[in-house]
Amino acid sequence: MLRLASTLLFAYLATSAAAADDEDFTPPDCSLDKHCPEKYPCCSVYGQCGTGAYCLGGCDPLMSYSLDSCAPMPVCQSTTYKWDNLDKAAKNNEYLGNATESDWVYSGFPELEDGNLLLTMPKNSVGSLFANNHYVWYGKIGADIKSSRGQGVVTAFILLSDTKDEIDYEWVGSDLSEVQTNWYFQGILDYTNGDSSKVNKGNTFEEWHHYELDWSPEELKWVIDGKVVRTLTKESTFNESSNRYEYPQTPSRMQMSLWPAGQASNAQGTIEWAGGEIDWDAQDIQERGYYYATVGEVSVECYDPPSGTNVVGDVSYDFKDDAGLDSSVEITNNKTVLASLAATGLDMDYGSNSTGDNNSTGTTNNNTSVPPNLGGTGNEPGSSTGSGGDTASTNPPGSFNQGIDDSSGDGDNAAASPNERALKGSFFAVLVAIVVLITM
Ligand SMILES: *[C@@H]1O[C@H](CO)[C@@H](O)[C@H](O)[C@H]1NC(C)=O
Ligand SMILES: *[C@@H]1O[C@H](CO)[C@@H](O)[C@H](O)[C@H]1NC(C)=O
Ligand SMILES: *[C@@H]1O[C@H](CO)[C@@H](O)[C@H](O)[C@H]1NC(C)=O
Ligand SMILES: *[C@@H]1O[C@H](CO)[C@@H](O)[C@H](O)[C@H]1NC(C)=O
Ligand SMILES: *[C@@H]1O[C@H](CO)[C@@H](O)[C@H](O)[C@H]1NC(C)=O
Ligand SMILES: *[C@@H]1O[C@H](CO)[C@@H](O)[C@H](O)[C@H]1NC(C)=O
Ligand SMILES: *[C@@H]1O[C@H](CO)[C@@H](O)[C@H](O)[C@H]1NC(C)=O
Ligand SMILES: *[C@@H]1O[C@H](CO)[C@@H](O)[C@H](O)[C@H]1NC(C)=O
Repeated sequence: MLRLASTLLFAYLATSAAAADDEDFTPPDCSLDKHCPEKYPCCSVYGQCGTGAYCLGGCDPLMSYSLDSCAPMPVCQSTTYKWDNLDKAAKNNEYLGNATESDWVYSGFPELEDGNLLLTMPKNSVGSLFANNHYVWYGKIGADIKSSRGQGVVTAFILLSDTKDEIDYEWVGSDLSEVQTNWYFQGILDYTNGDSSKVNKGNTFEEWHHYELDWSPEELKWVIDGKVVRTLTKESTFNESSNRYEYPQTPSRMQMSLWPAGQASNAQGTIEWAGGEIDWDAQDIQERGYYYATVGEVSVECYDPPSGTNVVGDVSYDFKDDAGLDSSVEITNNKTVLASLAATGLDMDYGSNSTGDNNSTGTTNNNTSVPPNLGGTGNEPGSSTGSGGDTASTNPPGSFNQGIDDSSGDGDNAAASPNERALKGSFFAVLVAIVVLITM
């Protein structure tokens, strides 16, 4: 499927870009040591430079052209999300930063069932990703979740910041008795951060459980069904050589996803972590046509920013320096909405018809304005691509690589950044890997 997806992706890019002047343009990649060029200033979560959606959720200010290349981040909003419809969920190529209009941005194949959201993963697809557009800068997020099941199938409920602080719950479908917990500071890999917790009654697929992340400036708690199962104090994360707290501390987006860690072409270590290769003919595929995780009510309760924060507004979070710490963040009235997919944080009105820059088609195409994303482009059930959903995966072993080396074949890929993350439990690495493959 993945090779198929990339073929289709190229086909559609070729078509859609026929009018663009830079037909063979490949977006530059970016890292801490290699910032984006001014023309494509935004470094996406996948480590590639572009405009438009590249400058929204996941845009890394520390790898972009400048700190203000990424659009400001919509502030936290305390609320409860229910699933009567998907009116406030936008596909990732439709969202321009108005979080009031679209609470969520997604890729893949969401379904609604009995008032719940199903994150689905049809046969040979790369699953679904749902990200909230209101950043949380400390707060308590909670969700009723029934995980997916089956070896190689991973469900995730996480907080991920644009500078790659990350707090995770992950369910590996081969072990329904527990959930894995993990955290990262600026994407720095530390194998000792991971842990797991047994879940009462021992079946995360059959039983609803309530999973919370209670994240304050001083401590982080993982809470399952009202019981604290793990605590991380900020104090415990002090690093004397870097002289800083290496604690997740920057505005983060809540994300829920289902993805195929046990894809046959993945690194062996990942497949093992995921409990083995995915069985694309498993019961759920046969009976429902997809693997699925079920999400009920999701709630967000925002906490106050750290004391000492520069608060001059209530619309957005901005980075004012490149340390990537909580002292780097301020709260302002800067707007968060881009006028077009050619706009960036440097010129948010670009492409609007009320400005002189009335024509954006010459400077944007889908490669450089909407990052390729997890979710099986061109493979949506019912799409005009016909047999896509049932085509067997034929991509060569190693082509879907978990981002720990450069064997993905494109040499200087995004996964080879100094911040690169290993496979185990790393949501970010998986996204990078998927994209490296799809864009190869
Ligand atoms: C998109 O990027 C791919 C490689 O990443 C490149 O081969 C292709 O030509 C690009 N298409 C456009 C329209 O820029
Ligand atoms: C955001 O707002 C602050 C304070 O109001 C201002 O100093 C800063 O320049 C703004 N940043 C951008 C990117 O507009
Ligand atoms: C965002 O969307 C809301 C609701 O559709 C609308 O009222 C508001 O004007 C929009 N804001 C911007 C800046 O476009
Ligand atoms: C502490 O910081 C140093 C310097 O940045 C780094 O090399 C080291 O790995 C860090 N230690 C831990 C335990 O993260
Ligand atoms: C901007 O362009 C859109 C269509 O491209 C049009 O619907 C809208 O009325 C225009 N707005 C202004 C202010 O000209
Ligand atoms: C933008 O372009 C449209 C046609 O594409 C035109 O009708 C409109 O007047 C232009 N607006 C400005 C501000 O130049
Ligand atoms: C916009 O720019 C492109 C490329 O520069 C050009 O081909 C196209 O005709 C322009 N469209 C309008 C409406 O001016
Ligand atoms: C990008 O692709 C979509 C189809 O997914 C198409 O509607 C849109 O026109 C394309 N945009 C550009 C700038 O090529």
